[in-house]
This record gives sequence, C-alpha cells and structure tokens, in this order.
Amino acid sequence: MLKVDVIVDLQYGDCGKGKVAHYLSHTTKYSHVLRYNGGCNAGHTIFHKGKKFVTHHIPAGVFFGIRSIIGPGCVLDPVQFFREIKMLEAGGVRTRGKIFIADNTHVITGAHKAEDKKKGGKIGTTGRGNGPAYRDKYGRTGVRAKDIPKLKPYLINLYDEWFTLSGVEGFKKNNARILAEGAQGFGLDIDWGDYPFVTSSHCTTAGALLNGLPPQSVRSVWGVAKVYETYVGSKKFQPKGEVFKRMGDIGEEFGSTTGRRRQTNWMNMQTLERAINMNGVTHLVFSKVDVLRTIKLWAVIDKKKVLKFKSEKAMKDFIIKRLKPLGLARNRIYFSEHKDRI
Ligand code: IMP
Ligand code: MG
Repeated sequence: MLKVDVIVDLQYGDCGKGKVAHYLSHTTKYSHVLRYNGGCNAGHTIFHKGKKFVTHHIPAGVFFGIRSIIGPGCVLDPVQFFREIKMLEAGGVRTRGKIFIADNTHVITGAHKAEDKKKGGKIGTTGRGNGPAYRDKYGRTGVRAKDIPKLKPYLINLYDEWFTLSGVEGFKKNNARILAEGAQGFGLDIDWGDYPFVTSSHCTTAGALLNGLPPQSVRSVWGVAKVYETYVGSKKFQPKGEVFKRMGDIGEEFGSTTGRRRQTNWMNMQTLERAINMNGVTHLVFSKVDVLRTIKLWAVIDKKKVLKFKSEKAMKDFIIKRLKPLGLARNRIYFSEHKDRI
C-alpha cells in the first residue's frame, strides 16, 4: 500500500522545510517527492554537497535522483520552472527523467504576474502571480499544464503515478513511498492564517492529501518551526526592541524569493500548539537554535506573556514539557543548529 510522510511548516514559512526534505530524502527510502502547494512564491534554501541552491518549484528529491512531482495543489510558472531546471543542471544536479508535473496543475501566466506585482502590495505578496492564478483556477477560467505544449515532456497522470506504480527501481507495484513537501506555512494558510495576510493555497497536512493521496496513507507528519518567528509581508509583526533586529541580522532573515527583510518575534507556543494539533504533527524540528545561542537570549511567548529563560537548556526543557501533552515525545523533537542537517 502507498505510504506518505508529510512535511509542514508550522509558522510563516522559511522554517527550514527544504533542509528537512533534503535530509529525509536521503535517510528514508522514497519513490517520490511531491510538492503539494504554492508556486514560485516559495523559496527553499538547500545545501547539497556543500553548495547552496534556492529552489522555488522543484522538490528536494531531485538532488538524489528520486522522482520529483509538482502536484495539482500547486500553481506552476513555466518560465521559472525551466529557469530552475537550468540552474540545477548548472550546479551539477541531473534532472533528466526525474521531474514531473501533474497534468491537471494550473499555470501562472504573464498576466497573473503583472497583476500580482500591481495589486499585491496591500498584503505584501511576493508578486509572483500566485493569487491571481489560484483565483482563475477557482473561477474556472484557468490554464492547466496540459494546455502548454512546452510542458508536455514533463506531464504525468497522477492517478497512474500513485496507484499503478510500476517500473520504479526498488519499489513493488502499488507500493509508492511518498515524501510530501509543502510551501509557505500554517500561519499563511488561506483558511487558518491571519486573513487577508495569507497566501492562496492550503499549507496543511490536509493540503498535501488534496494531491490524490488517501488519508490512511499518512505515516508521519514532520512539523518544522523556528525557535523564534519570522514573517514577511505587509502587516506589522515585529515588536519594538533591539533584540529583534539582531535576530534578523544574525539569522540572515531576508526572503530567499524577494530579498525582503523578514520581521521577527519570539516563538509563540499557543500558535505552535494550534498548528501541531490541526496538522497532526508526529515529529517536530526546531531550526536555528544557533541564532538564539549567538544573541545569548532565550525566550518564548506563551498565553500572551514573554517567558524568559536563563539558559538554552532551560528553554528546551520548557518546550519539551509543554509539547508532551500534545503527543510529542522527547525522541521525536529535534533541535537543529545547522544549515545542512537536522
Ligand atoms: P503570495 O503567496 O505571494 O500571494 O504572498 C502572500 C503572503 O505570503 C505574503 O506575506 C508573502 O510574503 C508570504 N509568502 C509567500 N510565500 C512565502 C514563502 O515561501 N515564505 C514566506 N512567506 C511567503
Ligand atoms: Mg522560504
């Protein structure tokens, strides 16, 4: 039977999904890596064999020759897609015969991008055309990948890919093992984020399933969070205080897609709890512990209060205790302090 592991960002994007996807892609055996939502608004920073890559559309499986699928939960910009393939090839990554697009995936057009650049300022969108592309999809006036001749060599029927899996080396028929890699984050989700300061897609475990995956197939859900929060967009997010500017500087908190400075804050435990519960998180990776270690301050927000800790250990102990009632045991919580591993 088909099995799926899902990666979901529990905050506002940029928590290190790319790193976790890259890590799982070579430590667990997968037949496919699926990108399940978003478009080229996403920017995944991945360190592969010591080299830095920023991907927007193509899932991390491609670095290991795993079949990498862009699912119909996504919207795809063909211009960016071909640019990305070129960038990967130039960096020494073999992409031939490894990258596929579900034929029912909707496409971002030049008109979508022009409109988003003009009108996206109020929300602070990335200007990549995602909102207009999803709007046209739901308005039933969209363009799909199967309508674009240049994309033809990459198109697949996702039903056949998932359920009649055959000829994939090392995997039995009907036994697909899928890593589902998301974009953006729960705090930007169209339904559960702070509307209208949200993206246009479903950044949830449920959003992964919308790509033709049965609910019983979910094996584990890897939540990813930072030990502090960042948000990029138009709403006011960062509180007053020098420490938040330092966090941004030391954490190099600039958008990998637009280069905008990300706003920062302490991690909010209640927001995190909500994201863990709604996404059914079974494993949790906290990124960027090294950043707080450098600024030598340890704090979180819980029940609207800032809780300060004397040491890194005290903060980690608090977090572990706080998450235990949510079903997250210590051995499923990872504190990561490296760019290239968890
Ligand atoms: P859009 O997704 O370009 O429509 O932008 C909507 C909101 O989501 C804005 O606040 C963007 O900055 C934010 N956003 C979109 N994609 C990402 C991402 O990959 N990481 C972080 N923020 C994102
Ligand atoms: Mg990013």
